[in-house]
Amino acid sequence: MLTCFSEITSTSTPIYVLSAVDYPAWLEKQTPSLRNWAQRVGFQAKKGEICLVPKDDNDLLCVLLGIADREDALQIGILPSRLPQGVYSLSADWKESLLNCAVTAWGLGSYRFTRYKKADPYLAKLIIPDSCDSKEIQRTVSAIYRVRDLINLAPHDMSTSHLAAAAYEVAQECGAAINQITGVDLITENYPMIYAVGKGSESEPQLVDIRWGDSKHPKVTLVGKGVCFDTGGLDLKSPDGMRLMKKDMAGAAHVLGLAQMIMQAQLPIQLRVLIPAVENAISGSAYHPSDVLKSRKGLTVEITNTDAEGRLILADALTEAASEDPDLIIDIATLTGAARIALGHEIGALFTDDDALANDLMRHSKITQDPLWRMPIHKPYRAGFESTVADITNSSNAMFTAGAVNAAVFLKEFVGDAISWVHFDIMAWNPRASSIGPEGGEANAIRAVFSYLKERFQ
Ligand code: BES
Ligand code: ZN
Ligand code: ZN
Repeated sequence: MLTCFSEITSTSTPIYVLSAVDYPAWLEKQTPSLRNWAQRVGFQAKKGEICLVPKDDNDLLCVLLGIADREDALQIGILPSRLPQGVYSLSADWKESLLNCAVTAWGLGSYRFTRYKKADPYLAKLIIPDSCDSKEIQRTVSAIYRVRDLINLAPHDMSTSHLAAAAYEVAQECGAAINQITGVDLITENYPMIYAVGKGSESEPQLVDIRWGDSKHPKVTLVGKGVCFDTGGLDLKSPDGMRLMKKDMAGAAHVLGLAQMIMQAQLPIQLRVLIPAVENAISGSAYHPSDVLKSRKGLTVEITNTDAEGRLILADALTEAASEDPDLIIDIATLTGAARIALGHEIGALFTDDDALANDLMRHSKITQDPLWRMPIHKPYRAGFESTVADITNSSNAMFTAGAVNAAVFLKEFVGDAISWVHFDIMAWNPRASSIGPEGGEANAIRAVFSYLKERFQ
C-alpha cells in the first residue's frame, strides 16, 4: 500500500465534498453544531476551500472541501498536503469514474520530489473506497511518481545512460526483455539520425528497445522522445528557452510509465517500447545546420534547425516501429513549444488521422480527467518542408506557421498511411503547483491512454 493510502480502520474522518450549488441544501440537513461551526468560520464551499470541523474532544469530526462543480474530483488532490495527520474517508455520491479520479488525485497530490531537498512526508491517509480498484489506482499513481521523478532529475543525473538504466529497471521489475544499441553501433544498425543528433555529446546516444507479452496478442508499440537535455544544438536556444530543457526526455519517461501500467495490469497486449535517447549538445562533433542526414527510412533530411531534433530521433524510431506493422503506434514527446502555445501546459495535443481512435481517446480523456485536445495532421503543410538539396528539411520554412502541426506532418512522413498511429505533443511540466501535483515534472495523457487500451484490449 502506498503511504498516502490506508487499509480500512475502525475510525476515520469523513471528507464531505461540496460544490457551492449543493452546499446550502446539504448544510440544512446537518446538526446545529456543525451548521454553527461552518457559519462561524465562513465556509462557503468555494473551490479549494477547506473547513476542519472539530469534535468536543479536540479531535476532528469531519472535513468539508469546496469544489468547483460536481465533477471536480481532482480537487481532492489538495487535501493530503493540507490535512492534519490521520486516516480519512471520502463521502461523496460520485459514480465510479469520478471516485477513481478523486482517489487517484489524492495519490498524485501526495507526491514530492525529495532527491535533492528533504521534506517531511504528508501524514494524511485516505481509505480507498470499496467500489474502486485499489490495486489499479496505486499502479497508476506509482507509475506517475516514476514519470515525475525521471523528469525532475537534474541533467547530471539523467544522462542517456541514466535513462537507459531507468528503462532496464522498469523492464526488470515487469519481466520484460530489453535490448540497447549504443553509440556508433547505431550507424551499423541503421539509426543514422539518432546517432547524428546525439554525437555532439559525451553522453552516448542510445536506442532502448523493450519487448513484453504474448505474440498471439495485438501488437502495440510505444515510442518516447528521450532528449536528456536540449540546448538547441548549434542553433542554440535562449536562456529562457533552455531553462526547462531537462524535461525533454519526458516522452521517454511517459512511455516507461505507461508500459509499467500495461505490464503490471497484464493487459493482453504484445508490447514494444522504443526509446531513442540522446543529448542535443553543442561541441565540435555536434551536427550542423545544413548537414544532410540519411534517415533509417532512406529519405534524406536537410537540417535547417538543429533545435528540431526530437522529430529526427523519433523518425528513425517510428520507421522501425512501423516496419513490424503493429496494430497501434503511440508516440509521446515534448516536441514543440507551439503545442503549449496552442493549448497551454495542462492539455496534451493529440494527433492522428484515425477518427475512431481520436474519438475514443477523447472519451477516455474526459473519463479520466486527463485533458487532451485533437489537432490536425494537415498534409498541405508538407510544402513548408521542401528542400533544394534533400527529400525533406527538418523545420518548416512556411510563414504564419503552426509548429505543432508541422512537427506531426513531418513524423507522418516516416510512419506512412497504412498504420494506426497517434502522436502526443505534451508539456510534461507544472509551472506551479496544481491540485494534483507540485511544480515540476508532470505526466500528461497516460491515464487517458491506459484507460483506452484497457477498454480496447481487455
Ligand atoms: N524540446 C523542444 C520543444 C519544446 C520547447 C517543448 C518548449 C516544450 C517546451 C524542441 O526540441 C524544439 O526546440 N522545438 C522547436 C522546433 C523548431 C526549431 C522548428 C520549437 O518548438 O521551437
Ligand atoms: Zn529542440
Ligand atoms: Zn527537444
